[in-house]
Amino acid sequence: MLLVAVIFDVVTSRKSGKYKRWRWEAVMLYIGIDLGTSAVKLLLMDEEGHIKNEISREYPLEFPRPGWSQQNPEDWKNAVLGGIPDLLASFDKSQVAGIGAGGQMHGLVVLDENDRVIRPAILWNDGRTARQTDYLNKEIGRETLSKYTGNIAFAGFTAPKILWMKENEPELYAAIAKIMLPKDYLVYRMTGVHATDYSDASGMLLLDVEHKCWSKEMCEICGVKEEWLAHLYESWQFVGTLKPDAAAALGLPESVKVCAGAGDNAAAAVGTGTVGKGHCNISLGTSGTVFISSEKFGVDATNGLHAFAHADGGWHLMGCMLSAASCNKWWMDDILKVTDKDYPAEQAPITRDKLGRNKVFFLPYLMGERSPINDTDARGTLIGLSMDTTRADITQAVLEGVAFAIRDSVETARSIGVEIPRSNICGGGAKSPLWCTIMANVLGIPLDILVTEQGPGYGGALLAMVCCGKYATVQEATNALVHVSRTIEPDAELTALYEERYQKFKQIYPTCKPLFKELAK
Ligand code: XUL
Repeated sequence: MLLVAVIFDVVTSRKSGKYKRWRWEAVMLYIGIDLGTSAVKLLLMDEEGHIKNEISREYPLEFPRPGWSQQNPEDWKNAVLGGIPDLLASFDKSQVAGIGAGGQMHGLVVLDENDRVIRPAILWNDGRTARQTDYLNKEIGRETLSKYTGNIAFAGFTAPKILWMKENEPELYAAIAKIMLPKDYLVYRMTGVHATDYSDASGMLLLDVEHKCWSKEMCEICGVKEEWLAHLYESWQFVGTLKPDAAAALGLPESVKVCAGAGDNAAAAVGTGTVGKGHCNISLGTSGTVFISSEKFGVDATNGLHAFAHADGGWHLMGCMLSAASCNKWWMDDILKVTDKDYPAEQAPITRDKLGRNKVFFLPYLMGERSPINDTDARGTLIGLSMDTTRADITQAVLEGVAFAIRDSVETARSIGVEIPRSNICGGGAKSPLWCTIMANVLGIPLDILVTEQGPGYGGALLAMVCCGKYATVQEATNALVHVSRTIEPDAELTALYEERYQKFKQIYPTCKPLFKELAK
């Protein structure tokens, strides 16, 4: 009788969590990795989606020439292998069930036959491949590229970088045995499996995105041997458990499962619940992206937006600007040298009456630009300065210039009939209430801010949960765990003022374009 009562008590108490601390029913933990451009952010999540701990580790970014951008993959590995033990310092490591990563996309990591990294990774915001990109778009032709991959060539994509290596570093090119994307390098070092997922692989210009397989034709065109390529997975799929050396370095059991993970934008979309049909997420990170989820594959006729696979099993359209929150960081840290990173103090003089009335404009093309103008020669520009321009006016112009450039991608999506009635917003820039207000009014739509701000890392941990069987699908996981904390509504008067400003902003780039070409010579 007593036994029956105990069993009844245990069963009815499962929901209340009364016995959750019992070893046999321990709460499992999941690690989400956001492999960013300036730092890796690591978070530890419990089964209910609560973030138990988060840390970040910075690493250097090299700009060896104007428009070039590189990083050392060993720095990523060391930041993760050193960071995870710190993340877990006061937790029971045996409770960790899975790891999922979202990573900066498009970066070319090349390994030789001894598994050594041959050269620094060439990153997503590197513009050295203008010639190879032109060759692909003009000689091979945009229609052919789009037929094989769903996309045209952009300088940051992976395939033009391989052509660049072939032409500029023939000896290193001859030594290539494997190519991989940044987060796949981490997964490889942790599991020994050369894997990638469809969302990240979409940005290589080597994947037939619609049919989710490598394009033999594109490999041929770009001088890529099939044996260099990774095995393809859906983002939540199990890739492997930890290798003994990785488990020892991380202080984790070898049984921990690693899933394929996703490109950082797809991971951020999962982390903000932007899954299934017709939802939008705007990310204000180093890059700025507009991400529209879809259950079906689709390409816009101009290829102005990327047509990529999503981490939920579907697809998405995406516009990507190369410098978003990084414009503000550059202005605050490198130019103004703001003490203690006190960005809010710099933004304090930008009161509501100043919004929509700024005479100064800023083109945010500090690394050239991808969507929608696809111009490696474009550069940052301040225009409209006068003797009464204040420091705060320029700060405001920087925030507004990024918002206007995001609007350019939103307009490209609208021009092909995509409706964007509202959007989620995430990324470092979304921490600024002022920037979110500017963004909502420049776009004229409500913006939802999520309880958890860590888009890609949170998405990575959710993918790990699905991998470990806690949820059957990505959508089931996001429905259960992703919640909106507040919404920034646009204001009719401000939206009208910003509409007028945006129409002026739109004239600046076409006017400067020939000059940018001239200056780049
Ligand atoms: C997307 C892109 C960037 C990077 C940034 O196409 O290039 O968003 O993924 O990490």
